[in-house]
Amino acid sequence: MDSLEQKLANTYKPGFGAFMSNIQTHHAKLWFAGQNENWKLADFEVHEIRETIEAIQKFQTERKESQKIEMIYPALDSIEKTIKFQNLSLFRHSYTELTNTCNSCHRATDFEFNVVKIPDNQSFSNQDFKESRTK
Ligand code: HEC
Repeated sequence: MDSLEQKLANTYKPGFGAFMSNIQTHHAKLWFAGQNENWKLADFEVHEIRETIEAIQKFQTERKESQKIEMIYPALDSIEKTIKFQNLSLFRHSYTELTNTCNSCHRATDFEFNVVKIPDNQSFSNQDFKESRTK
């Protein structure tokens, strides 16, 4: 029997941790895009974070932690503004605020041992974070 229910049960759904690992990647890339004042890429990376947050709200409804995820929205809104203004020092300020919010939620959900920080090294050596000159 190949019921719709069975098909749904066999559909792959990323876990909360997998969504978070995805957010971790875009959080790191966002920093290096900003440091290079590559605002187009920075804007893209914030949208990737936003999309994954929305996916958590949609697909992780059974986890009580999901109810706290919306605390990230003001920090995402403010970093988006700094990207629009192309202001590096405001960007750094909002990025710190964003990172603090990640950790506030980790503390609020008893995952305080999961500490996020501003990355020091660009670990994606197969990606160029400088603005592309070919338009
Ligand atoms: C709901 C509030 C919440 C917010 C906001 C949040 N996290 Fe998380 N995060 C969690 C929870 C809960 C886990 C544990 C997930 C699990 O069960 O595997 C987690 C786990 C993680 C992990 C570990 C993933 C792994 O499996 O190794 C990383 C890295 C992480 N978060 C990064 C971030 C970053 C970066 C941000 C901010 C941009 C962020 N988180 C914002 C709740 C949150």
